[in-house]
Amino acid sequence: MQVVLLGGWDCAEHQVWLGALRSAAPQVGWLDAAQAAIDPGRVEVAVVANPPAGSLSAFTRLRLIQSLWAGVDRLLDDPQLPPGVPIARMVDPAMNEAMAQTALWATLALHRGFFAYAQRQREAVWRVHAQRRAAELRVSVLGRGQMGRMAAACIAQQGYPVAAWGLNERPADTLDSVQQHAGAQALLPLLARSDVVINLLPLTAATRGLLNTAFFAALPIGASIVNLARGAHLVDADLLAALQRGHLRHAVLDVFHTEPLPHDHPFWRHPRVTLLPHAAALTDPRSAAQVVAANLRALQDGHPLANLVNRANGY
Ligand code: GLV
Repeated sequence: MQVVLLGGWDCAEHQVWLGALRSAAPQVGWLDAAQAAIDPGRVEVAVVANPPAGSLSAFTRLRLIQSLWAGVDRLLDDPQLPPGVPIARMVDPAMNEAMAQTALWATLALHRGFFAYAQRQREAVWRVHAQRRAAELRVSVLGRGQMGRMAAACIAQQGYPVAAWGLNERPADTLDSVQQHAGAQALLPLLARSDVVINLLPLTAATRGLLNTAFFAALPIGASIVNLARGAHLVDADLLAALQRGHLRHAVLDVFHTEPLPHDHPFWRHPRVTLLPHAAALTDPRSAAQVVAANLRALQDGHPLANLVNRANGY
């Protein structure tokens, strides 16, 4: 079986991925873009990390597109994406764990005011603020997929009251420590009871621009927002206005409309924005290669494929 590996990487990163994938799945023929272009009709699987739009259109006999990214929004936006080919997204246990750690770090830092202390250090100001208990900070996690569920569980374990929200109902979660909410009508009432909101939703037509003025207005004064999902969930100008009005206390942002974030973007220097360079959770080649290898084996053996994307739902 011929498998092409395509990503918007530099050469060193490509080699790391190729090495990890080759050792996890030595039975398949791994090709780079140039090798695959010689006879694209022989390529049966494309393993991709946000490849440039149009780069899959030459592969007319694909049986699987396996993403190395958890979010497949950019892939699905490609107008030349071969129709009808199953797409699997990355569900990497190490990545879920990293995301839960970042969500917990943001919660702890917002709860204890560590971002405010960091700002005071820059100003050489020695001032202590009141210390709240974890039980006094209500955390809502938007998104009840693998990442949302792990983040919610990890934060609840530290004693925070945690609610999880998703657009759709899903089979009852066994996690008693996390309150479950579903449906558009449940969102604003939940926001009214949230001190910290962590966004881990997939980016779809229904969630694009969700973090906007109406959303922020529904939060109590002094609430904070943590966006670890996609930049396009957030209306930047609405966030800046809500921070400016003093309605929102702080924003932790990992993802942006344009990445890298342009140097002149106001988020860079905003005293109440903490930002990361899309690093909340990186795909780990060691575990992700095992996930890919398992799907390649399933394809070869005619078994069901894991983590398939529903193109209509967008995730
Ligand atoms: C990262 O943002 C991913 O979707 O894997």
